[in-house]
Amino acid sequence: MSFKQKVVYQIYPKSFYDENGDGIGDLAGIIKKLPYLAELGVDMLWLSPIYPSPQKDNGYDVSDYLAIDPRFGTMATFEKLVAQAKTFGIGIMLDMVFNHVSIEHEWFQRALAGEKKYQDYFILREEPTNWQSKFGGSAWAPFGQTGKWYLHLYDVTQADLNWRNPAVRKELQQVLDFWLDKGVEGLRFDVINVIGKDAQLKDAADGIGKAEYTDRPIAHEYIHELNRASFGKHETVVTVGEMSSTTIENGVLYTQESREELSMIFNFHHLKVDYAEGNKWTKSMFDFHQLTAILHEWGEKMSDQGGWNALFWNNHDQPRALNRFVDWQKDRVAGAQVLAAIIHLNRGTPFIYMGEEIGMLNPTYATIDFFDDVETKNAYQMLLQEGNSPSEALAIVQSKSRDNARIPMQWQATDNGGFTTGTPWLKPGDYQHISVEKELANPQIFSFYQQLIRLRKAYPIIAEGSYEGYEKDHDQLMAFIRKLGQERLLVVNNLSPSSAQITVPNDCLNGQVLLSNKKIAIKKQLTLEPYHTVAILYKQE
Ligand code: NOJ
Repeated sequence: MSFKQKVVYQIYPKSFYDENGDGIGDLAGIIKKLPYLAELGVDMLWLSPIYPSPQKDNGYDVSDYLAIDPRFGTMATFEKLVAQAKTFGIGIMLDMVFNHVSIEHEWFQRALAGEKKYQDYFILREEPTNWQSKFGGSAWAPFGQTGKWYLHLYDVTQADLNWRNPAVRKELQQVLDFWLDKGVEGLRFDVINVIGKDAQLKDAADGIGKAEYTDRPIAHEYIHELNRASFGKHETVVTVGEMSSTTIENGVLYTQESREELSMIFNFHHLKVDYAEGNKWTKSMFDFHQLTAILHEWGEKMSDQGGWNALFWNNHDQPRALNRFVDWQKDRVAGAQVLAAIIHLNRGTPFIYMGEEIGMLNPTYATIDFFDDVETKNAYQMLLQEGNSPSEALAIVQSKSRDNARIPMQWQATDNGGFTTGTPWLKPGDYQHISVEKELANPQIFSFYQQLIRLRKAYPIIAEGSYEGYEKDHDQLMAFIRKLGQERLLVVNNLSPSSAQITVPNDCLNGQVLLSNKKIAIKKQLTLEPYHTVAILYKQE
């Protein structure tokens, strides 16, 4: 099966299911839930990092690329997971965090101890530049007692690797081969478009520095090299690159098949439409027109130029999409269905983030002390320094914190949502009202996802058709047409809490409703209910 037909499910292992009662999710827990995931119908599981790590950034600070963190289990359990998942037709996708390592990684420690070989693995300078860390503050920190500085685009404990050094690139190829030899079938590359820093490392005109290291041509060369040296030798391996602040032009270059870089990319532009003036740490309503403009532009240009998108609303870094884009108090179920249809009937590979299939929401924490995430804590302090009151700062982080996604999976209505028999590492959300148990007793969202996954496999137009926006300036509806030969699929999504009208193409009148989450009859003037999604399959005469 091509990656175009697959659906990937993301697991944040720390919060999925705790089998041994220590309050932290584990690999044995994932094994236990494989039948649930198979029932949903997904093809691949992306696991956020499971390697040894001091957990300063929840595993995105890797201290050993070639082992399993004992918190999550053993290598034997991992091998069992790969084997058992395979029996359900499910592949495992691992997270490759190759822009940086934890400062506890042996390479950094040996560099600090004075070994020149390992000092060349990092980006060291006599003087810092004015670049800013993505988690706040300077991107440079003192390198031990040497008087030098090392670069960390993320947390101070995450030291950027020097990709200009061929020995570093060789090490990373070996990491890939190690896991591919264990039967891993997918690779998710963390912030892979920032690996190629400018050779000069100079002060940035904007005082932030993104342009000095984002989407540089050399990043494409490094990715191509990884492809040729390692994963490209395995025909069926699926790769997805996480792209920080990328452009469509680069998105096309990363994913055009002939360039031999990646299968697909994540971009985040559509998830910045509730940032007031581009600032994440604000609380504001999303801009519908901005959202649809971005989705249409990416959809059309990637389609026209042969690029491929990874499609998603949620991941471990994002507050829940239901809280951002839907009046969930009014209609959580239909809202979840519309969001799902926009992604799953689109051109690209859909990713589901754990809990999305049951309509999970952000938790409500009474104080900052309940939060765990390093970025959130830094942002809270920054907001206070900027003059916000504690309650204002709390309201903002509440709406944007990454912990919103990271709360334990809600399996049942009692006992920490059935996630653990111990004390959960992060305070759970509202499992009393939303849980797998409750959803499966009366399936509405879960079953809608199942249906979408089945449709993608049954109708080639969904996996392979081209993309064109339809009535792109509509105030409430996000509509698009997929095309394959003479076949057409019109998808109309009402992402608003009031009904809406649209005129459909004449040929639709002879078409069939492939999917609708509410009652509908095909008419030239189509009226959609609040949070209503409709897909009409028809022939172009
Ligand atoms: C992106 C990851 O998704 C995020 O969780 C992490 O903090 C940064 N990359 C740094 O690795």
